[in-house]
Amino acid sequence: MQKYILIIGACGQIGTELTLTLRQRYGNDKVIASDIREGNESLMESGPFEILDATDYDALEEVVAYYEISEVYLMAAMLSATAEKFPMRAWNLNMNSLFNVLNLAKEKKIDKVFWPSSIAVFGANTPDTLTPQSTIMEPSTVYGISKQSGERWCNYYHNKFHVDVRSIRYPGLISWKTMPGGGTTDYAVEIYHKALSEKKYTCFLREDTELPMMFMDDAIRATLELMDAPAEDIKVRSAYNLSAMSFTPAQIADSIKSHIPEFEISYEPDFRQAIADTWPSSIDDSSAQTEWGWQPEFDLERTTSEMLEKLG
Ligand SMILES: NC(=O)c1ccc[n+]([C@@H]2O[C@H](COP(=O)([O-])OP(=O)(O)OC[C@H]3O[C@@H](n4cnc5c(N)ncnc54)[C@H](O)[C@@H]3O)[C@@H](O)[C@H]2O)c1
Repeated sequence: MQKYILIIGACGQIGTELTLTLRQRYGNDKVIASDIREGNESLMESGPFEILDATDYDALEEVVAYYEISEVYLMAAMLSATAEKFPMRAWNLNMNSLFNVLNLAKEKKIDKVFWPSSIAVFGANTPDTLTPQSTIMEPSTVYGISKQSGERWCNYYHNKFHVDVRSIRYPGLISWKTMPGGGTTDYAVEIYHKALSEKKYTCFLREDTELPMMFMDDAIRATLELMDAPAEDIKVRSAYNLSAMSFTPAQIADSIKSHIPEFEISYEPDFRQAIADTWPSSIDDSSAQTEWGWQPEFDLERTTSEMLEKLG
């Protein structure tokens, strides 16, 4: 049987690279990109695209029927920093889009769902280092509350309706093809752009704020490996912890200085510091390692070399 895949929120930081990778793997016409706005040239020119609002169930159902979609990757969401400014809009988007996709799967209109969670599900009372898969969560941001609720609903739909939904708690993601979309870890992308264009950067987090991070190639590979794994190996139906590296703004600055010695960093923490302060500094991803064989490939040094080379 032919497999047709729909990416919702395909023009964002993750959606763009995910769509391009899936198109390489399955063929351009098998992977339908959709968003409420158009994406970059490589995305728009490489295959089918639909303007689609993830909160509109009827429109979604129509696209799924038209293209005979069997798998959906739901990447549309409002991210942590923006969600603090528009709490109700964030809640409505993040939850209603998920219910729409889970309900399509419950009605057997699609077979498989990927929905991303985040390290934002954790809170100030969570163990800060090597945060376990199952632990105290208590998120304090609108975004984190929506992701934790989403995880519980994914687990519920799996248990109750046998929906094959899979999820990862992504750390902050670093990429060069698309800019990040309003998260608390965006500094770790902006810093490379500014290092190349201005040789200096003012960071919105304090120099010692250690957070879990991952290079986009690892994140995309993890997503596809999780989706490829046999259903019986996927024991966690909320979302998997996933880890690659952890660093502070001072450490990423040092790694950039080893390539650009004149680079200077200064610090002006803003409201995003309070969000970062409630998130873990490192993640225990042993469940992902043992259940579907996860292994990261990019550390900070390799990420810095790749970012500076690709953006330079
Ligand atoms: N980027 C990260 O560091 C990171 C970390 C953890 C989790 N995540 C999660 O991964 C997913 C994708 O994140 P991203 O960084 O690519 O986000 P992004 O903000 O870059 O992209 C989101 C996309 O969704 C689209 N969108 C917004 N409202 C929509 C709607 N109503 N219907 C359809 N599309 C809509 C936007 O136009 C945008 O292209 C999100 O669920 C996010 O919470 C991202």
